[in-house]
Amino acid sequence: MTRPVPTELSSGAEKLIRGRHASRAFHPDPVPEDTLRRIFSLAGTTPSNSNAQPWQVEVVSGAARRRLATALRTAHAEGHHSVDFPYAEDMYAPVHRTRRAAFGAELYGALGIGPDDHPARAAYDAESLRFYGAPHAAFLFVHGDGQARLAADVGAYLQTLLLAMTAYGVDSCPQGLLSFYADTVRAELGVTGGKLLVGVSFGYADERAPVNRVRTERAPLEATTTFHG
Ligand SMILES: Cc1cc2nc3c(=O)[nH]c(=O)nc-3n(C[C@H](O)[C@H](O)[C@H](O)COP(=O)(O)O)c2cc1C
Repeated sequence: MTRPVPTELSSGAEKLIRGRHASRAFHPDPVPEDTLRRIFSLAGTTPSNSNAQPWQVEVVSGAARRRLATALRTAHAEGHHSVDFPYAEDMYAPVHRTRRAAFGAELYGALGIGPDDHPARAAYDAESLRFYGAPHAAFLFVHGDGQARLAADVGAYLQTLLLAMTAYGVDSCPQGLLSFYADTVRAELGVTGGKLLVGVSFGYADERAPVNRVRTERAPLEATTTFHG
């Protein structure tokens, strides 16, 4: 049986999915509250194993966002790191390390930071704890025991959230870096349970910022995907 390809729907979806990219400089203007509610309600349609929906999402804006940015920068200055999901450079296979290095070169190149200028890179990372100037940030916590299977559900939530934002004209940057300050985020927001997987800064991108012109490529289909049968 041949099934018709719903071209209008698929081309719209393709445009949306390909249109999303990470932004790293934002205008301070907030996203209207009604739009915020629509975005997070749409993100909540994410599928999860047995529909458990093991995510807890904390959205910060206004004074709460300012207080958290200050606390994060203090934690950074004091070297107070706390991760719920362990991280190690050697968890990446060589091919993935190569892709990471290529991305780093492109990003820091756009910022005018040289490959060996480690102090400038560190300073940029510290600055990013202000959410790249975005007026909002969302923190995605994994509930339950927070093991990989539950984190996978929250990873799916992350992508749905990013696409929902794109659909509403809102720009974003997922920031794994924010998860290195899990205790600080918990303390500031009064969160007791869950493990912090990732933060997302979002708002309206400053399109004039050179860093926002960075566009990433992907490995060819054959490098990541095998069709059997
Ligand atoms: C889980 C996750 C963590 C990320 N952490 C950071 C981060 O800490 N800082 C940052 O600037 N970008 C971060 N990014 C954005 C990636 O660098 C970006 O998605 C990737 O380079 C592909 O580019 P694109 O999003 O523009 O397509 C993260 C993305 C994901 C999905």
